[in-house]
Amino acid sequence: MTEQRAAETFDERYAMRWVAPAAPVDGVVDDEMNGIVDAMNLGFHVSRQTPESVAFTVSNWAASDLELLCVYRRHPQPDSMDAAAPIGTFGALPKRLSWGDGSDIDTFAVIGVTVRATERRRGVLRAMMTNALHRAAENGYALASLTASEGTIYRRFGFGPALRERSVTVTRDRALPLLVETSGEVVVVEPSSLADGVGRAVFDRFHARTLGSMVRNLSTWPEVFGLRGDDGKPDAGLRAAVHRPRADAEPDGYVTYRFVDTDDHGSRIKVEDLVYADEQAYLALWDFLLSIDLVTAVRYPFARIPDPITHVLTDNRAFDIDHEEDHVWLRVLDAASVLSSRPYAADGTVVLDVADALGFATGVFELTVQGGRGTVSRLGRSDGERMPAALSLDVATLGSVLLGAVDAAELHDVGLITGPRADAELLSAMLRPARTPHGITYF
Ligand SMILES: CC(C)(COP(=O)(O)OP(=O)(O)OC[C@H]1O[C@@H](n2cnc3c(N)ncnc32)[C@H](O)[C@@H]1OP(=O)(O)O)[C@@H](O)C(=O)NCCC(=O)NCCS
Repeated sequence: MTEQRAAETFDERYAMRWVAPAAPVDGVVDDEMNGIVDAMNLGFHVSRQTPESVAFTVSNWAASDLELLCVYRRHPQPDSMDAAAPIGTFGALPKRLSWGDGSDIDTFAVIGVTVRATERRRGVLRAMMTNALHRAAENGYALASLTASEGTIYRRFGFGPALRERSVTVTRDRALPLLVETSGEVVVVEPSSLADGVGRAVFDRFHARTLGSMVRNLSTWPEVFGLRGDDGKPDAGLRAAVHRPRADAEPDGYVTYRFVDTDDHGSRIKVEDLVYADEQAYLALWDFLLSIDLVTAVRYPFARIPDPITHVLTDNRAFDIDHEEDHVWLRVLDAASVLSSRPYAADGTVVLDVADALGFATGVFELTVQGGRGTVSRLGRSDGERMPAALSLDVATLGSVLLGAVDAAELHDVGLITGPRADAELLSAMLRPARTPHGITYF
């Protein structure tokens, strides 16, 4: 088996090609798209979809400018799935990342990465990722992004975890009253009423002010508004409420949630989506959630770190962290372009000596910030020479500190950034976000 593997080259065994999803015709999806959806569902342990559901998926892909990189066996066993479906899938679509000051940057967002279990560790992922990152760079993307199903795969390709997320539970009996008066009014609505532009308008306001927010996939909206559950039918268990700052104003926050009966912890409310244009809306919606009777606790899987709700609970110990992990990973492709696109919190000059095993972002960059805007010049360096007074870091570490949610001075202390500590402190001050970054988009 091992000898056979060694003898067969990648190109002898596989054919790799980009595919633009063809929109379904009269609800019918072509064989190629059916095979790709099947392969992704197998890879992610998701049940087979109905033809209607496959058409929904593929329509959204086509409408989102998603492109698919697929790897096929050249000589599949005729009775195998490999004959009808790719053994490797890789999707990419444009997705904007917010800098939190109303500006944002387009990212090459990676989704749907799977490799058939029978073809693992033959370099399929590496071939797809390398090909795709070159395509992204050629198409002018300065940044790539993803959310990972495992934490150990993507660093080797230059992605760094830039934003983390927490699942938290707030126990009701000790939480209220909040230490501050909430303002405005919360009312219960049908979730489907949010689909009429209201929900997306609130999200747009959230996105504009929240560093790290990413626009959502088209397919996300029908799910969060309860129009489509996992089975493609309306989600009968989903509930919703909106917050208005005044009775005659448009909603500036909404929450969708469901009742969950668990054996071990009693009945709970689980928050599905909580979107807020400001902290007043956020606190008022929490106040509402914690006021719902016949449940012991509210579970919120996508909390900010840190979450300001802890400051205003009667008993701050009502707030428990259940789990924390990486959320958004960023991969810098063009360091000068990314660094000059974001706003900064402090003025000064730092020199960054960036190492990138794939070559895209390798170089020495002088970042000068004046009045909150950065300009970047690339410094020359002869081979092997280290720049004096520069901060040296890997491209994945650059991706990690980019949002300011991961502190550059801390990464200096643990050795991921080297050079003068004062420069790492300055970089940290420059990158410090105006308010806590928060990602509530999954892709
Ligand atoms: C993760 C997955 C895509 C890897 O595919 P693959 O074709 O076997 O990977 P490759 O052979 O190209 O290996 C590339 C590198 O990643 C490493 N790697 C691959 N899978 C890994 C994993 N699960 N954990 C840690 N490292 C992994 C390999 O060791 C190799 O390292 P190297 O190049 O430094 O030697 C595949 O196992 C898979 O489909 N998993 C299930 C779905 C999934 O988790 N997708 C990720 C969604 S975000």
